[in-house]
Amino acid sequence: MPDRERHDYDVVVIGAGGAGLRAAIEARELGQRTALVCKSLLGKAHTVMAEGGAAAAMGNVWPEDNWKVHFRDTMRGGKMLNNWRMAQLHAQEAPDRIYELERWGALFDRTKDGRILQRDFGGHRYARLAHVGDRTGLELIRTLQQRAVTLDIDVFMECKILRLLKDSEGTVSAAVGYWRPTGEIVSFTAKAFVLATGSIGKSWLYTSNSWESTGDGHAMAAWAGADLIDMEFVQFHPTGMVWPLSVRGILVTEGVRGDGGVLRNTEGKRFMFDYIPPMFAAETADTEEEADRWYDDHINNRRPPELLPRDEVARSINSEVKGGRGTPHGGVFLDIATRRSADEIRRRLPSMYHQFMELAGVDITAQPMEVGPTCHYMMGGVRVDAETERSTVPGLFAAGEVAGGMHGANRLGGNSLSDLLVFGRRAGMAAAEFAQGRTGTPTADETEVAAVVAEAEAPLGRTGGESPYELHHSLQQMMQELVGIIRTESELRRALDELDTLNERVEKVSVSGGRVYNPGWNLATDLPAMLTVSRMVAKGALDRRESRGGHTREDFPGPDPELGNVNLVQRVDDSGQYTLTPEPLPEMPAELKELFEEKPH
Ligand code: FUM
Repeated sequence: MPDRERHDYDVVVIGAGGAGLRAAIEARELGQRTALVCKSLLGKAHTVMAEGGAAAAMGNVWPEDNWKVHFRDTMRGGKMLNNWRMAQLHAQEAPDRIYELERWGALFDRTKDGRILQRDFGGHRYARLAHVGDRTGLELIRTLQQRAVTLDIDVFMECKILRLLKDSEGTVSAAVGYWRPTGEIVSFTAKAFVLATGSIGKSWLYTSNSWESTGDGHAMAAWAGADLIDMEFVQFHPTGMVWPLSVRGILVTEGVRGDGGVLRNTEGKRFMFDYIPPMFAAETADTEEEADRWYDDHINNRRPPELLPRDEVARSINSEVKGGRGTPHGGVFLDIATRRSADEIRRRLPSMYHQFMELAGVDITAQPMEVGPTCHYMMGGVRVDAETERSTVPGLFAAGEVAGGMHGANRLGGNSLSDLLVFGRRAGMAAAEFAQGRTGTPTADETEVAAVVAEAEAPLGRTGGESPYELHHSLQQMMQELVGIIRTESELRRALDELDTLNERVEKVSVSGGRVYNPGWNLATDLPAMLTVSRMVAKGALDRRESRGGHTREDFPGPDPELGNVNLVQRVDDSGQYTLTPEPLPEMPAELKELFEEKPH
């Protein structure tokens, strides 16, 4: 094999969205030689799709808010399957992370008296989302990026990592990948690796995710022997664009509903009143009049049903469409035009205004938007220690969407941006500490490197095989149809059979052209990760014989108390076999349990 480009660091962070940037900043500030490797351009990350804000109980709008209320909201939103310690750390540390971002230059919207303004989002008791119009994720990335470049962090853009390699003691020591522009192979050795690779949404047809979200980190962790948890829990954001077809799935921020937008079916009915679950009945308005008073006085009134957690709203929209009350394009109407002035809409939701005007020819200050569920976020991921984000494989840490546990069965909107700040920082800190304590020089086993390279290059050497685009499309259609928002045993079994077939087909993929900027080849190298992760989602969904959060089984419509006490832990062993074991949730301490006995105030 010709010699290749090699790099050596103390800490290598793979993925440069919010979690990756925050981890790299922390590791670098702790004196570690740090690299940030991303397969896209720096700043182009799914983080920007968290548009409406970052949840943090700062109490700027509602002084009653505090970490305990945020913790309780998060656990209830996650249907109590969350890792309680992660949810607690998140709620306690999120305000500091937001103020830190402000010190680093983030320009948040302001209250009249100059504090950071906070907006309403589903499942949050109080207006809690620090935001920058509807471009919060973008501002967060911009700020972190600026900070990272001043810290002398080495950034490797357009570099796709294929595999993690371990040393003879089982500690992760190297990562092998290639440069997308040239196709040349590159390897990184390091004392600690942080995965921050984000989401898996590109395995579904309708998704808010862009091309990068192929589950690389989830799969690489699994291939390295790490435990993954909660893989059945995929979030379908209730509001994606449904029309025109070419833009189907693009996110319509929850900020529209947070700012007063309401959902109607084709009969003009505000249908969410028909779908209030008992768990949220006490605090959800059951008349339009009461719901409308919420925006003036949160304390004495109950939240509008459009602000139920995302899983509830997405399922309700799905039912309306299935019941024949959806738009011809398969969505429902989201109306902000009759609720807010045109000026307010353009000021508070500039991206939504622009997005609908440019992509659909719809003026949202005068017309309703057509919206429907879109695959948005992965709750499941690498099992980590709450304090350190250490995975079950030594030398490997994970933060942000690639990590599991924090959000349980369903994530509340806005909790993602604060999650990646809180746990990105913690992962960077723990990785730095691990690197400082590691003795010896990490190396890459050359036989293993050669095997990784041979597998990646195989499609370039084949002719007349299958197109990676066709295979990807088959996967997306199948996952959309069989492992979508509503699931059944027979469909999930069919999905697993189809995945067997897709695994055979992927062995025959061929691509034409060379290795230089070849998107067909790049996609071919993404497919093994997508297939691995899709199988884990389908397996988890099959074994979780209940409905909970983002996972709805038509054949098991209610929650099962026994399954409410377990994570489904998945592993891939050295021979490529998948195993799934239910394991008890960590026990919540009594003082936190008490919070669920108090009446919401
Ligand atoms: O709707 C949104 O703005 C998305 C936010 C999030 O996923 O946290």
